[in-house]
Amino acid sequence: MPRKIIIDTDPGQDDAVAILLALGSPQELEVLGIVAVAGNVRVAQNAHNALQILEVAGRTDVPVYVGSERPMRHPLVTAEYVHGSTGLDGPTLPAPVTPLQTQHGVDYIIDTLNAHAAGEITLCCLGPLTNIAMAMVKAPAIVSRIREIVLMGGGCFEGGNITPAAEFNIYVDPEAADVVFRSGVPITQIPLDVSHAMLTTKARVQRFRDIGNRSGVVTAEMLDFFERFDVNKYGWDGGPLHDPCVIAWLLKPDLFKGRQCNVAIETGSELTRGMTVVDYWGVTGRVHNVNYLRSGDSDGFYELLVERISRLP
Ligand code: BDR
Ligand code: CA
Repeated sequence: MPRKIIIDTDPGQDDAVAILLALGSPQELEVLGIVAVAGNVRVAQNAHNALQILEVAGRTDVPVYVGSERPMRHPLVTAEYVHGSTGLDGPTLPAPVTPLQTQHGVDYIIDTLNAHAAGEITLCCLGPLTNIAMAMVKAPAIVSRIREIVLMGGGCFEGGNITPAAEFNIYVDPEAADVVFRSGVPITQIPLDVSHAMLTTKARVQRFRDIGNRSGVVTAEMLDFFERFDVNKYGWDGGPLHDPCVIAWLLKPDLFKGRQCNVAIETGSELTRGMTVVDYWGVTGRVHNVNYLRSGDSDGFYELLVERISRLP
């Protein structure tokens, strides 16, 4: 039986590749729905981008919901400077023909968790955690029904990418992250410590193009655009491919290494707002709330991506 997942996302080229990876893995994963959140760009554009990716993958049967328009407390910070004005710059994609769902994304999360057996649904979070926290605040009874939250966000050993201390997804809505990290739901966190090793080198991007299918070509075109900013910023051989690590961990956890530890979110300090404070060495004695991944096998990760994207149209 495939694992049932909801993908909460702000696509985003790397989010889009994560969605393709999930859709290319129907034996392991059943994508119940996609919920957009404000993050890389505004929520309406993120939802539009999700529809476009579903059309590339030939999976217009997957419903897309519009979630929260802004973070819980702070004004929205977006990242057009990384992802382009559409959030999904790179390929030329036709306007989607499938409509968005009319139900709010937060209510969809609540209703779907309530409609399934407790422990059946995994939440895959690829953007700021606003929708998940809002659902937990609106309907606290859902917390115990979530099987697991697997999220891309935060960092420790690699520092931050939007401030010296904070990673983008957590920085945009630290109050939401705080709610989620304190919830007691089992969390697997894929931080920058992992994604910074998953570089989109020229040879890897070419492998997607060489698959020859529509999804492979679109992936290559997205990654060509996506890496520009990070290659300039870090001087590496490619950009870090963050969000697909969430799906890759569900498919092949052996590609990654980490440990259980305590992670707390900084919400007070102006200097370090949105920092994930990772007690990797167990110096606080605080309760373990996170399976914190620290490293991953990048060749194995790209093998998996190529294999699964090959299965799509
Ligand atoms: C995260 O921020 C976004 O820009 C990416 O899509 C990813 O989810 C990386 O910090
Ligand atoms: Ca994202």
